[in-house]
Amino acid sequence: MTHFSRIVGTGGYLPDRVVTNAELEKTVDTSDAWIRERTGITQRHIAAEGEFTVDLAEKAARRAIEASGIQCSDIDLIIVATTTADQVFPSTACLLQSRLGIHGCPAFDIQAVCTGFVYALSVADQFMRTGSVKTALVIGAETFSRIIDWTDRNTCVLFGDGAGAVILKRDNSPGILSTHLHADGDFASLLQVPKGVSNNLSAVQSGTAYVEMAGSEVFRMAVKTLGRIVDETLEANQMEKTDIDWLVPHQANHRIIAATAKKLGMPMEKVVQTVAWHGNTSAASIPLALDVAVRDGRINRGDTILMEGFGGGFTWGSALVNW
Ligand code: COA
Repeated sequence: MTHFSRIVGTGGYLPDRVVTNAELEKTVDTSDAWIRERTGITQRHIAAEGEFTVDLAEKAARRAIEASGIQCSDIDLIIVATTTADQVFPSTACLLQSRLGIHGCPAFDIQAVCTGFVYALSVADQFMRTGSVKTALVIGAETFSRIIDWTDRNTCVLFGDGAGAVILKRDNSPGILSTHLHADGDFASLLQVPKGVSNNLSAVQSGTAYVEMAGSEVFRMAVKTLGRIVDETLEANQMEKTDIDWLVPHQANHRIIAATAKKLGMPMEKVVQTVAWHGNTSAASIPLALDVAVRDGRINRGDTILMEGFGGGFTWGSALVNW
């Protein structure tokens, strides 16, 4: 029998602390008007001292588990997409597995920066299609605030912390219709944290391993690449633009999102946007946006949803989902 996977529940979590544009105006040379106009962001949530990626991931996971009506013991695969793991090892997925009281199932992290959730969803879907997994927990969780230079106005206004989770269950009919993943490491230097464990441990230890970004180049590539992946996804599924009910994009910048919506000929009312309140939460942004639109009743069973992401690497990808 052919197996497929279906998303049966979602969960999200944002830290309590909200940092508004007005607060950033006090610490860097920026303005609320500039941030709103160039990015669409009005505020972001920032993890409290002592609050870590696994804490965010656990809260989102428990909400997704509850929404799905499953037990933790049903889960036989855990994948966490994150660029901001709490420890070098064990993986955030292993730390989370222990928190959830699950033993023995595979648990691992995926690092594809802002495309991480799409990568994780795709990998989980492959496990389901081979028939080796029945219930998967897939999470995007980030504390990007920890790798931001809060004196750099080019980056600090953009990012926020959060976690989003989905439960996938094996099904006889396709919930996840297709996934498409890409990367091109030649663009690594345009968006990166150049210091890491192997090439400069002291920078990590002293907390100076920060995001560096060539903003306008990243912007141009994101718009172009996301346009192409829309075409690739529709073609692979022999669908027309009008077959898509909802666009749930990575939430980096409202102008990038609007460009993808335009490519799809889609009115903005059909685009799930959370960037204004969440900022860019990297791997968490798509599942967080999905959770918002599922819980507020916009997304309903039978809807066709296009998720797409673009991020450091460069990495990019899409998932077409029948809800
Ligand atoms: N407040 C005020 N001015 C700022 C600023 C801020 N927070 N950040 C940058 N600027 C300034 C720049 O210094 C520059 O000034 P200059 O002309 O005197 O040199 C000016 O604004 C224009 O900068 P530019 O980078 O060309 O602006 P932009 O229109 O491209 O917008 C971004 C900047 C970062 C919002 C935009 O490029 C972007 O969103 N890029 C993609 C980022 C992204 O999505 N990254 C993650 C991908 S997953």
